[in-house]
Amino acid sequence: MVSSQSFPGAQPDAPVVSLSDVRFAWNAGSSIVIDIHRLDIARGERIFVRGPSGSGKSTLLSLLGGMVIPQNGTVRVLGHDLAGIGGAGRDRFRADHIGFIFQMFNLIPYLSVVENVILPCGFSQRRAGNAIMAAGILHRRVTELSVGQQQRVAAARALIGAPELVIADEPTSALDADRRLAFIDLLFQECEREQATLVFVSHDAAMASLFDRAIELTGMTRADLAGEAAAAAR
Ligand SMILES: Nc1ncnc2c1ncn2[C@@H]1O[C@H](COP(=O)(O)OP(=O)(O)O)[C@@H](O)[C@H]1O
Ligand SMILES: [Mg+2]
Repeated sequence: MVSSQSFPGAQPDAPVVSLSDVRFAWNAGSSIVIDIHRLDIARGERIFVRGPSGSGKSTLLSLLGGMVIPQNGTVRVLGHDLAGIGGAGRDRFRADHIGFIFQMFNLIPYLSVVENVILPCGFSQRRAGNAIMAAGILHRRVTELSVGQQQRVAAARALIGAPELVIADEPTSALDADRRLAFIDLLFQECEREQATLVFVSHDAAMASLFDRAIELTGMTRADLAGEAAAAAR
């Protein structure tokens, strides 16, 4: 029996993300989509994950969010082994600590702007408690918004209540170059303000240089993503 007090919180000294010997296939007997020996992401890092369509980018995000659990290895987020806290624990943990931005922003059309932004807070009292609502939030329907305004709402929704980890799955793929840069700029500003760690997925390698670090998924080979430091230590 798990009491409410023992729900996992953030452990401030732990890497935000730490993967060790992670292998994942969607079904028993189907091919391995994710095969990562090591991946550590420090607090406040802005990570770019690139790879062609079908290379496992969204699958990696599902592992980080605890939507799925690997058949092999460990996924730690904020120091917690996601396999060890159970399905309900993962739902709670995700709501408390992770902000999501999806392709086309996934705003809910029948809700107002403010309702869209506070949506994650319905799942998380912690984040609702942290939330400081900006003055002048619009009570408009999101269907009346420009793309630029939709970007703002999507970023605000992901960052509300200061989640430690923000996960973005190709949010800029439908935008033209100017809007793409403007959105990345906004996202970086918001993440820096909240000291959030950002994992941003795209098939568009041109944006990689804007980030602190890029991770390449090929979908074929075993990846050792520990980086230069580990290679230098060998
Ligand atoms: N929910 C799912 N069930 C079964 N297979 C899936 C599922 N999601 C993705 N896959 C498969 O996993 C592989 C990687 O997909 P995905 O992670 O979506 O790649 P990407 O985001 O890089 O385009 C693909 O072969 C895809 O068909
Ligand atoms: Mg994808």
